[in-house]
Amino acid sequence: MSTVRIVAHPVLQEALARLRDKGTKPAEFRRLMGDAGLILGLAALEDLRTAAGKVETPLKTAKVQRIGQPVAFVSVLRAGLGLLPRLSDMVPDAAAGHIGLYRDEETLNPIRYYVRLPKRLPDTKTLLLDPMLATGGSAAEAVRILKTDGAKDITLVCLLATKAGIKRVHREHPDVAIVTAAVDPVLNKVGYIVPGLGDAGDRIFGTL
Ligand code: PRP
Ligand code: URA
Repeated sequence: MSTVRIVAHPVLQEALARLRDKGTKPAEFRRLMGDAGLILGLAALEDLRTAAGKVETPLKTAKVQRIGQPVAFVSVLRAGLGLLPRLSDMVPDAAAGHIGLYRDEETLNPIRYYVRLPKRLPDTKTLLLDPMLATGGSAAEAVRILKTDGAKDITLVCLLATKAGIKRVHREHPDVAIVTAAVDPVLNKVGYIVPGLGDAGDRIFGTL
């Protein structure tokens, strides 16, 4: 079943407001993107399988719930890296993968330049991280690459989406859940989300 979840948490929406602000400089932009990645990523992991265990507290044995399935965070380079740092600190045993894609400026088609993925993807809950879901071409291609490596349980974590991008991903991959902070109304002629936040990769890495 194709699902889209919009995370309305006020702290996330405050971070998004600051990320949209053209006056936010790269250092602050990176920090806020990391905060957003943590909140969105935890929302995407809410249905993670758990396993019962026991630990000794200083007082007694406590019954506990641990993470019960492997997790991987796969960033679409470059901008997906912005969502990763706080999330990977919070889930330190998660494996990290990287898919390098950039959009051809004329056709807007994704061009692949690098892929390095964790092993055991078939058993793994895989979060695909990319803040911008615009035409959906990059996300659809990244999901295709993950599936070619055997990934079955994939959630796309983005910060901003368009209806066209969601439609494209779900047309090609109806099994992929999408978690986002907002769906913006317009995709302009050059493939930018409007009002959006500009070029996420350039704002994260200060390459404007
Ligand atoms: C951006 C963004 C997505 C893609 C979204 O990457 O991070 O990967 O565009 O657009 P789409 O939905 O139309 O495919 P970009 O190609 O600008 O590369 P970068 O992250 O290296 O700047
Ligand atoms: N990629 C970006 O970084 N921003 C957009 O608005 C669209 C694609």
